[in-house]
Amino acid sequence: MATTIRQLADMKRAGDKIPMVTAYDYTAARIADAAGIPIILVGDSLGMVVLGHDSTIPVTMDDMVRHTQMVRRGASNALVVADLPFMAYQVDADDAMRNAGRLMQEGGAHTVKLEGGLPVADTVRRIVDAGVPVMGHIGLTPQSVHALGGYRVQGRTRAAARRLLDDALALEDAGAYSVVLECVPSPLASVITERLSIPTIGIGAGPHCDGQVQVFHDMLGLFSDFLPKHARRYATLADQIAAAFRHYADDVRSGDFPAESESFTMNESLLSDLLDG
Ligand code: KIV
Repeated sequence: MATTIRQLADMKRAGDKIPMVTAYDYTAARIADAAGIPIILVGDSLGMVVLGHDSTIPVTMDDMVRHTQMVRRGASNALVVADLPFMAYQVDADDAMRNAGRLMQEGGAHTVKLEGGLPVADTVRRIVDAGVPVMGHIGLTPQSVHALGGYRVQGRTRAAARRLLDDALALEDAGAYSVVLECVPSPLASVITERLSIPTIGIGAGPHCDGQVQVFHDMLGLFSDFLPKHARRYATLADQIAAAFRHYADDVRSGDFPAESESFTMNESLLSDLLDG
């Protein structure tokens, strides 16, 4: 049985921190799952780190369904959360419910995540009432990058901080089981975490959140040229992969690869017959 949203609530109550990572395919999900990560997010960040777009805005429902399927096949124990992409829930609540349903029914997600606070609270309530657990996402909401004027820390004025607290409370009231706080000043994230009975998951929101989420490619060093301030690099895989590719290319060029032990044999007499024939 995968991690349940009830277990996450218990973890908050017990003060047990919740680690969450993003993954976008079967292999990555298997590794995260086997490492004991309790929540895997199929983030729409895949638009940037997998599909090569410069934002999450071009990501489609079909992209999300396909990648959620891959992750779900690789995750036996983790709760799989799938992002509703840009314009999959903003048009109207019926559309949002249909798309949330697709992520569960076609993608195999256990729960969905969507961006926004008070303005999406009614939509969250409708989706939750339909039996789909919803994780909220406030603070820096990347789907609104152009409205926000860039990828910047949110909630730094008195009014903006108040708005974020109200957003968080509105999501809890609408039935969200957890809220991501992205790029929120640490003291504000701490207040929000204290005021909510549901777990907060931070990314760039300091150490007081109930859990943390990191983007797969950031934490594993798959982009060697860029690291957001809030990310910590736990490996430098881009360098290791590049070194492995260079080594392989050298071996092919020198004839060292493949060796006889990496090749297949056959009955030599068959070959003689073939040549004679
Ligand atoms: O898409 C994503 O990776 C996310 C995380 C940054 C929380 O939403």
